[in-house]
Amino acid sequence: MMSAILKFEAVAKNYKSGPSIIHALHETDFEARKGELIAIVGPSGSGKSTFLSLAGALLTPSSGQIFLNGKDISGLSKKEQTELRLNEIGFIFQAAHLVPYLKVKDQVSFIGKRSGTDKNKSDQDSLDLLNQLGLEARTHFYPKDLSRG
Ligand SMILES: Nc1ncnc2c1ncn2[C@@H]1O[C@H](COP(=O)(O)OP(=O)(O)OP(=O)(O)O)[C@@H](O)[C@H]1O
Ligand SMILES: [Mg+2]
Repeated sequence: MMSAILKFEAVAKNYKSGPSIIHALHETDFEARKGELIAIVGPSGSGKSTFLSLAGALLTPSSGQIFLNGKDISGLSKKEQTELRLNEIGFIFQAAHLVPYLKVKDQVSFIGKRSGTDKNKSDQDSLDLLNQLGLEARTHFYPKDLSRG
């Protein structure tokens, strides 16, 4: 069996809320393998966003371990988490969080340039990706001129 690219082992996440502690996740085990498409379903407040934020290296667990491609990412510093998000794991929010003054092609190539890829290659990769997504007619649009989806 193929090994997990993302693995949670007994992960808990607690939030401080004034004098009380909210146990958003407890003893959560999870495994995702390459190519799997997984939906996380549950009532409001059940911890879906907390789970995704942990998986996407936006939060660190209160206890337990999270492995990404075999590497334990549970104890990373903020700086190391930022590096990981730049190079290894992507995260798409419900809200777009696009940069209002960058054209579509520049939103996409920005990440490549930030991660040290050569400018021309980043521009080409951006156009290739937008073509694959059928967005070639939108490369010069600003976010305000796009549909939500
Ligand atoms: N930053 C925070 N500080 C304190 N409590 C939080 C924080 N974020 C989430 N919580 C609490 O943790 C629990 C899980 O919240 P979470 O946002 O993960 O749920 P959710 O499943 O994504 O909900 P929804 O379906 O409404 O998006 C809730 O009780 C919520 O109030
Ligand atoms: Mg949520």
